[in-house]
Amino acid sequence: MPAALSNPLVAQEVGAKLTLHKLWETPDADAALKELAPRIRGILAGAPGHRRVGGEFLGQFPNLEIVSSFGVGYDHIDAKWAAAHGVVVTNTPDVLNEEVADTAMGLLLSTLRQLPQAERYLRAGKWQQANFPLSDSLQGRTMGILGLGRIGKAIARRAEAFGVKIAYHGRSRQPDVPYPYYATVLEMAAAVDILMVIAPGGPSTKHLVDAAVLRALGPRGVLINVARGSLVDEDALVAALQKGEIMSAGLDVFAHEPQVPQALLDMDHVVLLPHVGSASHRTRDAMAHLVAENMLSYAAGKGPLTPVAETPWPRLEKAD
Ligand code: NAP
Ligand code: 8YV
Repeated sequence: MPAALSNPLVAQEVGAKLTLHKLWETPDADAALKELAPRIRGILAGAPGHRRVGGEFLGQFPNLEIVSSFGVGYDHIDAKWAAAHGVVVTNTPDVLNEEVADTAMGLLLSTLRQLPQAERYLRAGKWQQANFPLSDSLQGRTMGILGLGRIGKAIARRAEAFGVKIAYHGRSRQPDVPYPYYATVLEMAAAVDILMVIAPGGPSTKHLVDAAVLRALGPRGVLINVARGSLVDEDALVAALQKGEIMSAGLDVFAHEPQVPQALLDMDHVVLLPHVGSASHRTRDAMAHLVAENMLSYAAGKGPLTPVAETPWPRLEKAD
């Protein structure tokens, strides 16, 4: 199988049992792929920002059976194409919930209490001249969660413990959830002063957070995005921050990673992280192990462990 994913733990665990071709060590990967293509039955795929795993790429492998992807979000993989061609796609749900929720809360507190700015102030020796200015507060606030799924619920639990009220928006109301539900992001944004974005990327959520939603969030509003850059209209966000239509933003993800708009870099009142939501040794190792286990379980004839919704396992029978 070819691996576009250069994680050493995945390579070690999979390479110990299956023949593994490491594309990242191959000088001319495209030429190597052409030669190997008919023998490839599985692909280990990297995260978004690596190669886009679309139908054109996958279609090169006539005997492909499985794509095991590193990360819970798989908007960079054409899972519909995979389903239509009998290829199973797997991702890494649950093992990163708590880490990403911790990061989201850290980013939220950093944004409201201006902790990175305060640290920069101290290091610049400015404390000798004056105290750091007072910041805004998390207390008394209400958080609207766009995407109350596995990670969204882990964030909600933490936020509740901090005394924050919760509301949520998704495509449907969840009967077992005690928080108020809003049928549109716009209505929810008008009712809260923190908008926490943690829904999947892809065409169905593109620019769900637009200029109107940001205006509704209001001048005390804070946007936190730990999902995908594609959910937020980045130009509208820059404009809203410049005009003071919202107070601030904490962003772990961007529309064109690793590029970050200069206008955001120039703003001192936002907090920007380089997509580190799940990036601890502990959690990345757990994700790597699950990527390998999906491939190995499938290769041993026991089926994938965590197939994505579009490619359920056992496979659905096709009605003719
Ligand atoms: P999940 O359990 O599938 O939850 C996704 C939630 O989003 C669900 O509650 C779903 O509710 C909602 N949703 C889906 N489509 C929607 C739509 N079109 N409009 C509104 N809401 C929608 O996923 P998860 O495991 O929590 O992960 C969420 C996302 O976080 C991932 O897909 C990934 O992109 C991102 N992520 C980022 C990092 C990072 O490092 N920053 C790390 C991990 C994950 P309904 O079905 O009711 O709509
Ligand atoms: C990625 C993520 O896996 O799981 C996701 O959807 O966004 C992250 O955890 C990370 O970008 C891997 O490089």
